[in-house]
Amino acid sequence: MHRSRSAPLVPLKTLFETKRGKVVPLPPRLARLYGSLRLPLSRAHPRVISNFVTALDGVVSLNTKGHASGADISGFSAQDRMVMGLLRAIADVVIIGAGTLAADSLGVWTAAAVFPQLADEYRRLSKALGKSEAPLNVIVSGSGKLDLRLPVFVSGKVQALVVTTAEGAKQLLKRGIPDSVEVRAIGRSGSAISARAILDDVCRVHPSKLILVEGGPRLLGHFYAEHLVDEQFLTLAPQIAGRDIGDRRPGLVMGKAFAPGDALWGTLTDVRRGSSHLFLRYSFPESSDGMK
Ligand SMILES: NC(=O)c1ccc[n+]([C@@H]2O[C@H](COP(=O)([O-])OP(=O)(O)OC[C@H]3O[C@@H](n4cnc5c(N)ncnc54)[C@H](OP(=O)(O)O)[C@@H]3O)[C@@H](O)[C@H]2O)c1
Repeated sequence: MHRSRSAPLVPLKTLFETKRGKVVPLPPRLARLYGSLRLPLSRAHPRVISNFVTALDGVVSLNTKGHASGADISGFSAQDRMVMGLLRAIADVVIIGAGTLAADSLGVWTAAAVFPQLADEYRRLSKALGKSEAPLNVIVSGSGKLDLRLPVFVSGKVQALVVTTAEGAKQLLKRGIPDSVEVRAIGRSGSAISARAILDDVCRVHPSKLILVEGGPRLLGHFYAEHLVDEQFLTLAPQIAGRDIGDRRPGLVMGKAFAPGDALWGTLTDVRRGSSHLFLRYSFPESSDGMK
């Protein structure tokens, strides 16, 4: 069965609500659609949240040309887009990996771009939080093999920061870097950049209270491996996507294995229902070695 792209935008039903954190001042229409949103923020360090949609069987990308986006997982759910926009509207920074950019090469990571219908409400919300511009779009790429003519780099809708390695920066410089893009070489060529280094560098360029990691699964794996995710927003879409043997459809995290030796257990803090979709929030304990 194909889900309709024009499923109506009806309010989420709050089933269980976190009481932690300050209430975010949502404009009336957003408050009606989402309910109350609370967010614990700390003065000591930026809060890192992640937002993904997954199928019932854990698939986050169909990994199929033309159908590799999160929308293919959510069934183009308007409610999921509404929540994506909400989190982008309150975030200072959105971080994605090169694979996520490749899957949505015409994208810019703003609230209005993901759900234009609510652009005015998102703008009011950002303004109420003292933000004058869209979240900084950070693209992480070790190789630097990025097309700098894509909208995220040249549309003027966002400021973009590319976090890469020395070798990656060299590649990008050769191709000419647009004015609206900053490139930071912080990783060693040939190895992954640590999530800690990414965060530190992002905060140096753009002091932030709330950082949204939208993935994909490989980038998110680094953040979980370094215990840097405070909270996972997870939309559970009511489809079984299935996997062929060896078709490499990813789950939420790829490239890092935690259980059983180093399992990461979260705490369910919030549950909302939108028809047959569930909108979940899990908090993860801060790293015991004080990395944050
Ligand atoms: N369902 C959802 O909510 C959701 C959310 C996000 C993404 N997705 C889907 O996930 C798929 C992409 O998966 P993915 O795992 O390939 O995405 P990804 O993590 O965005 O991209 C992986 C690439 O990002 C760069 N990268 C990530 N972490 C790095 C690090 N620590 N250091 C250096 N480079 C790093 C590397 O780029 P280089 O190769 O350039 O070095 C790596 O090859 C897409 O189909 C996308 O639509 C789904």
